[in-house]
Amino acid sequence: MVRQGEIREITPCSRLEGEITLPGDKSISHRAVILNSLARGEAEINNFSPGRDCLATVNCLRALGVKIRRLPCHCDPELVSGEAISLLVSGDGFKEAKNVLNAENSATTMRLLAGILSSQAFLSVITGDVSLRSRPMGRLIEPLRLMGAKIWGRGGDSFAPLVIKGGKLRGIDFEMVVPSAQVKSAILLAGLFAQSNTILYEPVSSRDHTERMLKRMGARLENQGNSISLAPLTNPLPSLSLNIPGDISSAAYFLVAGAIHHNARIVIRNCGINPTRTGIIDVLLAMGAKLKIENERLEGGEPLADIVVESSELKGIEIGGDAIPRLIDEIPVLAVAGCIARGKTVIKNAGELRVKESDRIANICQELSRLGADIEELPDGMIIQGGKPLTGTKVDSHGDHRLAMSLAIAGLVAKGGTIINQSQVAGISYPSFWQDLLSLRAASPCHCEPKAKQSRI
Ligand code: S3P
Repeated sequence: MVRQGEIREITPCSRLEGEITLPGDKSISHRAVILNSLARGEAEINNFSPGRDCLATVNCLRALGVKIRRLPCHCDPELVSGEAISLLVSGDGFKEAKNVLNAENSATTMRLLAGILSSQAFLSVITGDVSLRSRPMGRLIEPLRLMGAKIWGRGGDSFAPLVIKGGKLRGIDFEMVVPSAQVKSAILLAGLFAQSNTILYEPVSSRDHTERMLKRMGARLENQGNSISLAPLTNPLPSLSLNIPGDISSAAYFLVAGAIHHNARIVIRNCGINPTRTGIIDVLLAMGAKLKIENERLEGGEPLADIVVESSELKGIEIGGDAIPRLIDEIPVLAVAGCIARGKTVIKNAGELRVKESDRIANICQELSRLGADIEELPDGMIIQGGKPLTGTKVDSHGDHRLAMSLAIAGLVAKGGTIINQSQVAGISYPSFWQDLLSLRAASPCHCEPKAKQSRI
C-alpha cells in the first residue's frame, strides 16, 4: 500500500509578494551541533534548523551522552520539528549509545557521525530510513578503513546499517573521486583524532562549512588550491556559539518562484551566500533573473545577505561541470525554471542526483512530464525544451522533500490544480515551507474549498 500522507493542492495565483525568513542552514546546523558536542564548554546555537534531518543529528548526539538543551528551557525529551530553535550544547565527549543510532532520512547525520565514531573506543550501530539505507556508503567506508577504522556495512560494505568499532586512527593522504562534502567532512572529523596529519584532494570544491567552522574553533587546517591539510587535535576544541544563516537551499524555491511567476516580488532575509553554495544565484542570473543581493555581511565566518527577486523573462542555459556541487540540491527546482524559460536548458555532470534522497533525475523528469513539460532524462542530467505550458494534475513527491517543494513551485505557474502527495516531507529541511508559500500569495488567496483531507494553497 502506498502511504499518501498529507496531500496538498497548489493552484496558480495572480500575485506573489512578501518577505521570507528562512530556516537555519541545514548543513551548517549539523556541523554546529556536532562540532560543539566534541568541544570543551558550552555553546549557544541560534537559528538552528528545525528540519527533521538536523533533529535526527541532535537525537543521535543525545543518545551518545551529549547534553543538548533547547532554549528557552523546554523540557523536551525529543525535539519536535517546527519553528526556529536555539540550543545549548555542553560537550563532554561521547559515550557508547545503549541502542542503535537512527539517522532517519539524513545522510549528513550518518556520514559525519561515522567519521567521529570511527575514533571513539566503543561500538556503534547506525541506521536510517528506507531511503538512507539505499544510499551509497562504500565511498565513506573506504577512506575511513584506510585510516584504520573498523567499520562495516550491509551489502558487502555498501549500505547502512553501519557497524563501527572505534579505535586508533592514522591520517591519510587521500584523493576524493566523487566530490562530496559529507565524505570530506567525515574524513576531516576522523582526522581530528588521528595520530598523524590528513591531506585531502578534492577534484571539484564542495561546500566548505566544516573547514570554516574548524578553523574558527582553532583547528590547524589549511587549504591550498584543491587540497586540505589537517593536523590532529592536541587539545579539545573550544566551544563556539553562533547564529546560523538562512538556508540558501530553502531560499531556492522562492528565488525560482519569484523569477518564473508573471507578477512577483519576493524579499528573502538573512540568506547564507557561502560561495560554495551560490550556484543557484549564478545560474538564475545567467538565465536572466531580476535578482538583487543586498546588505552583504559576515556572521560567524559565513557570508549572508538579503536577496530580492522579481518576475523575469528567463532563457534556457547549460549547467554542468564545476558548477554542479555548488547547486546540487537545487537542481530539481532549477528544472522547474528550465520548463518556464525560453529555449533549451541542459543539465549535465549531475549523476550524483541519482543517489540522493530519491533518484532525483528520474523522478523530477517523470513528474514534470506529467505536468506537460518537454523534458528528457539523461544518465547524468536532463534536457528541457522550455516554454511548453504546464497543466496541473496529480504528481508524486516520491517521499523526497526537495521534489515536493519543487513541484509546488511548478504548481504556481501550471493551469489548474497540482496535487502533491506526502507533502509533509518538506519538513525534512523546511517545516514552514507551506505556510511561507501561503503567506506570499496572501494578496490573491485561493477561494476554492479544500477537498476532504487535502489542503489547497
Ligand atoms: C551536504 C552535502 C551534499 C548535499 C547534502 C548536504 C552536507 O551532499 O547534497 O544535501 O551537508 O555536507 P554530498 O556530500 O553528497 O555532496
